[in-house]
Amino acid sequence: MKRSADRRKLIVSLGITKLLAIAYFTSSWNIYNNRVDKIEKCLSVFQSNGSLKSDLKWELPHCKLKIFPQIDSESCLKRRFAKNLNNRFFFFGDSTIRIKALTLAKFFNLTRDCKENCEDLRLVLNIHWEDADSNTTIDYLLNPFFNPYTELPEGAPTVLFGGAAWFSRPPEHLTFVQGHYFDLLHLPIPVKLGIHKARLDRLLNHLITFWKIETIIWILPETMLGNLTQYNEHIDIYIQQSLEVISKYPDTVIVWSSWRMFFDQLKNAEGLGSIMSDDVHVKDQYEFPGMQPLLNFLCNPVDENLDSDYCCHKSDVFLKEEKKNL
Ligand SMILES: *[C@@H]1O[C@H](CO)[C@@H](O)[C@H](O)[C@H]1NC(C)=O
Ligand SMILES: *[C@@H]1O[C@H](CO)[C@@H](O)[C@H](O)[C@H]1NC(C)=O
Ligand SMILES: *[C@@H]1O[C@H](CO)[C@@H](O)[C@H](O)[C@H]1NC(C)=O
Ligand SMILES: *[C@@H]1O[C@H](CO)[C@@H](O)[C@H](O)[C@H]1NC(C)=O
Repeated sequence: MKRSADRRKLIVSLGITKLLAIAYFTSSWNIYNNRVDKIEKCLSVFQSNGSLKSDLKWELPHCKLKIFPQIDSESCLKRRFAKNLNNRFFFFGDSTIRIKALTLAKFFNLTRDCKENCEDLRLVLNIHWEDADSNTTIDYLLNPFFNPYTELPEGAPTVLFGGAAWFSRPPEHLTFVQGHYFDLLHLPIPVKLGIHKARLDRLLNHLITFWKIETIIWILPETMLGNLTQYNEHIDIYIQQSLEVISKYPDTVIVWSSWRMFFDQLKNAEGLGSIMSDDVHVKDQYEFPGMQPLLNFLCNPVDENLDSDYCCHKSDVFLKEEKKNL
């Protein structure tokens, strides 16, 4: 009994490493295969090739994405809480990641803890949102160079991070900040990028072995536009070396590449005009549609009314066999 409860907890948290280990030891090859396919089907919201349809809808070839309204009208967080899913999310990286934390907090209608700098977020190191009723916290840390000495908020099992902008900028562009999270600021770009690779590896190791993070979502950065296109070459190197490092941690780190694909197709869509406010940041109105894969990942498993064509349908995540044992 204890064992099946443990198994459920593991599967629910999408701890892929553990899931694979348990599947390997307790199941026939068929069941194993089946489980892996189902979990992968859910994770594919982040990875598989999709296409942008009218109304900024993102579609995947093999499962239906639910389109969420701008605000969580279905108590996704409360349902997650009721199902014992952990609602603690930690975002870090540069401002492109901050926007995603802000967008998620806005969707969940969370109140921000605001003591100082409530309007200008550019150099605010930590942002914190919470909702006591659903035991939810979202934290953001401005850590643009992936400084591995990162304190994590208590109990966060899901970490989302990324952001290439600071690694790609020449030192003279950013001279206004100080502190240990900005320690690479004054180095030339090739040196920054060299350090990035070692740091990313150390960081992932630290998150997985020390902080016991179960799910890490690494967000592929969007390209720069306008007069910042010169940075794109560095962004490509950054992506390439990140993927090399990440490939060492296939059981824990998921690459969110569909965001980048969404962005690229958006950029090429006729009639949208400029999709970035300043060549670096995607305008607010496009951030939310781009977040749909994450919302499907978080909210679909707890939506009782969703039919099984949908990505991350509950039967793909809370496996039927496990439920019988409850
Ligand atoms: C996505 O598309 C690219 C380019 O067309 C292709 O190389 C890749 O294999 C595709 N990936 C998946 C998961 O279908
Ligand atoms: C969002 O939160 C505010 C303040 O807590 C509340 O007044 C409002 O009704 C909420 N909106 C929705 C749609 O739940
Ligand atoms: C809220 O979440 C934290 C971190 O996961 C956990 O330690 C705590 O027990 C939870 N509280 C409740 C009331 O579920
Ligand atoms: C282009 O770069 C210049 C100088 O670096 C800057 O002042 C200007 O605002 C940039 N233009 C745009 C559209 O971002």
